Amino acid sequence: MIKTIQDYPLSRGDIAELLSSTGEKEQALFDYSYKIKLQNVGNEVFLRGLIELSNVCEKDCYYCGIRRSNNSVNRYNLKHEEVIDLVKLAFKKGYGSVAIQSGETSSKTFTDKIDKILRESKKITNNGIGITLSCGEQSGDTYRRWFESGADRYLLRIETSSEELYKKLHPQGESHSFTKRVKALELLRKTGYQVGTGVMIGLPFQTIDMLADDLVFMRDINIDMCGMGPYIEHHQTPLYKYRELLEPASVRFTLALKMISLLRILMPDINIAATTAMQTLEHKGREKAVAVGANVIMPNITPCNYRKEYLLYENKPLNALNDEDELDSLEKSLETIRHKIGYFKQGNSKHYSKNYK
Ligand code: 5AD
Repeated sequence: MIKTIQDYPLSRGDIAELLSSTGEKEQALFDYSYKIKLQNVGNEVFLRGLIELSNVCEKDCYYCGIRRSNNSVNRYNLKHEEVIDLVKLAFKKGYGSVAIQSGETSSKTFTDKIDKILRESKKITNNGIGITLSCGEQSGDTYRRWFESGADRYLLRIETSSEELYKKLHPQGESHSFTKRVKALELLRKTGYQVGTGVMIGLPFQTIDMLADDLVFMRDINIDMCGMGPYIEHHQTPLYKYRELLEPASVRFTLALKMISLLRILMPDINIAATTAMQTLEHKGREKAVAVGANVIMPNITPCNYRKEYLLYENKPLNALNDEDELDSLEKSLETIRHKIGYFKQGNSKHYSKNYK
């Protein structure tokens, strides 16, 4: 089996077969992606201090806890000064980069606010802090403006590369169009960002072939980074009614590990995040993701009183530990898998530096 992985470029069929593997075959896959990872990006894990800027969202995605129609959510916006304080903190503690994530809105107030945050963050850190934005679909002008103001990377998940499944997960119409989302990824690439995408794994109606296609999609559009994780149900969303169709959480988790492992083999030098959803479904889930191919971790640095309002899915960790203790414990558990944290490094995608710089 190992021979298959090493000696041939993986076809869609091979990928689907490996996604279904169990036992020894599955372990051989994980061992191989670990090796590929060490050879290509080493044993360093880069940090992004995650700032959940606002849960105000114009979208109504059927799976997401902060969808527009969920009236039980208390909507918030971090203030400019609050964000800048978090950036300063992250920079001082050696995170190297921050990731600013938000519900989607394209109001002028919002786009101006991001712009100002970007400019000030770069200024106060003397261009030292790396910035990833994850603020949804925006116009080409907005993407350009933010790029020029200092955003280095942009993460926009395709959620699923199957248009048919995408339609089942979103309301119909222009505001949730699959084609528009693919175009947005193209726009980001043209603008000059390090571009990231990702999918949810274990969704109702999702098949193994669709997941194999997701990996092929990511390879074909030549992404620089990826953030993907298991789908986790949320009772205040329309998709909750299909929970009986879901695989058990442990199966979704392992499937996500296999997706990470295969993506590392397909794209050896990209950045892959060990996402919060992995940690939600399994204790030390992020470390397990690192051990099969991930090389980025995004510790949440959002002030604790806001975190409970950014519940994209159920049981999302609110973090009992303070930032310092969290990094400490992360460092220790990474040591057990012979990894270290790349403190004070921006951790840009090697893939991007090779192809676009
Ligand atoms: N389960 C897992 N991931 C989710 N996201 C949103 N809702 C869920 C859920 N129920 C992910 C989406 C989105 C990102 C911000 O969070 O992939 O792009």
